[in-house]
Amino acid sequence: MAIKILIVDDITETRENIKRLLYYEKDMMIVGEAADGQEAVNQTEKLSPDILLMDINMPVMDGITATETISLKYPKAAIIIMSVQGEQEYLKKAMVAGAREYMVKPFSTDELVNTIRKVYDFEQKRRVQLAEPSMVRDMQRDPQLIAVFSTKGGVGKTTIATNLAVGLAKETRKKVVIVDLDLQFGDVAVMLNVIPKRTITELIQDINQMEPELLESYLVTHPTGVKVLPCPTRPEYAELITGSHVEKILSILKQRYDYIVIDTPPFFHETTLTALDLCHQILLIVATDLPTIKNVKLGLEVLDSLHLKGKVKLVLNRSSSDIGIRCEDMEESLGLKVAARVPSDGRTVITSVNKGTPFIVTDPGTKISESIEELARMVMLGEARPHDEAKVEGKRGLFGRLFGLTSG
Ligand SMILES: Nc1ncnc2c1ncn2[C@@H]1O[C@H](COP(=O)(O)OP(=O)(O)OP(=O)(O)O)[C@@H](O)[C@H]1O
Ligand SMILES: [Mg+2]
Repeated sequence: MAIKILIVDDITETRENIKRLLYYEKDMMIVGEAADGQEAVNQTEKLSPDILLMDINMPVMDGITATETISLKYPKAAIIIMSVQGEQEYLKKAMVAGAREYMVKPFSTDELVNTIRKVYDFEQKRRVQLAEPSMVRDMQRDPQLIAVFSTKGGVGKTTIATNLAVGLAKETRKKVVIVDLDLQFGDVAVMLNVIPKRTITELIQDINQMEPELLESYLVTHPTGVKVLPCPTRPEYAELITGSHVEKILSILKQRYDYIVIDTPPFFHETTLTALDLCHQILLIVATDLPTIKNVKLGLEVLDSLHLKGKVKLVLNRSSSDIGIRCEDMEESLGLKVAARVPSDGRTVITSVNKGTPFIVTDPGTKISESIEELARMVMLGEARPHDEAKVEGKRGLFGRLFGLTSG
């Protein structure tokens, strides 16, 4: 992209001269001219030049006043002052007013071109420096939604989701909540051994008046500090919960939590789809047995058709069991590489479930706990903004898209 230049000088001949000097520079483009300071301010607003070549003595508004105004209002425009001999005292004022550089007239083509490039390059570097910390801040502040999903039941979704939530809290010391969206037969509360006073069923009854502070009272606190939003106490209550409820709940949780882990049922329901659509990462749990691979493959095709495959990370559970299909063959069949592995360790898993404490807390030294810590780190590093791809398709809704229906 060419450097956009605005020439500010009350003498037409000087402006013509500069244009001539820059005529052959392929990386520079004169976007406009101004004959006084006021015009320069207006043109800067309109043309957003990268560089202004600014004379000092001009009618209406002088170059120093214009420099001051522009550098305050349009800090992206860098100003180079063009002075004549004997204007030294003005030069200092110009620099204080925010000019980046100055040249004494008359100047050569080389001098002009080099000064423009030098100021422009410096400005670019300065912008990167300024932008970086804020980018990091945004990254850290952006809450992350992580769905633990599989189109096969019993593959370890809840085991991984609960341990991951605690693992994330442990690794990051940030605020973590786990939402049980397995609305009929969820067992997050059981696995974490917390007793729900209220659940998502009660929450949706008050959803329209819901404030972040109020939502807290529907959550249960696990001893590790992780918060839990439990599923309904009875399977038939699941029907009351819709995709838009889920959307609302997640958007409120995002205001208070850094990580929102979502446990899901083994099928595509409107509520699950909403969560998958809104989340940043989908941990798709797979195992190396044929029925699981078959179902996960179908699930992946659906996710692909919904443009959600891009955020899928394949997690192989019970990776250490030597029965079943070879991992490479499975990867080939699914067309996706395994991103993380959780070994099989029935003893540790069952003991921890029966105690109601995640193994990542009770057995931190085991291979399975280490694998969850690694998974947590992967999730932390994979932090991303939500994919907007799916939303581009308009108001048709995920469910409608899935079944090829239009919703008005
Ligand atoms: N890595 C593992 N090693 C040994 N046992 C495991 C492992 N992961 C899960 N299990 C066991 O497998 C069973 C199913 O796990 P879990 O309930 O987490 O699966 P799920 O995918 O959530 O099931 P559902 O679809 O019913 O919600 C549990 O008994 C659990 O203890
Ligand atoms: Mg489960």
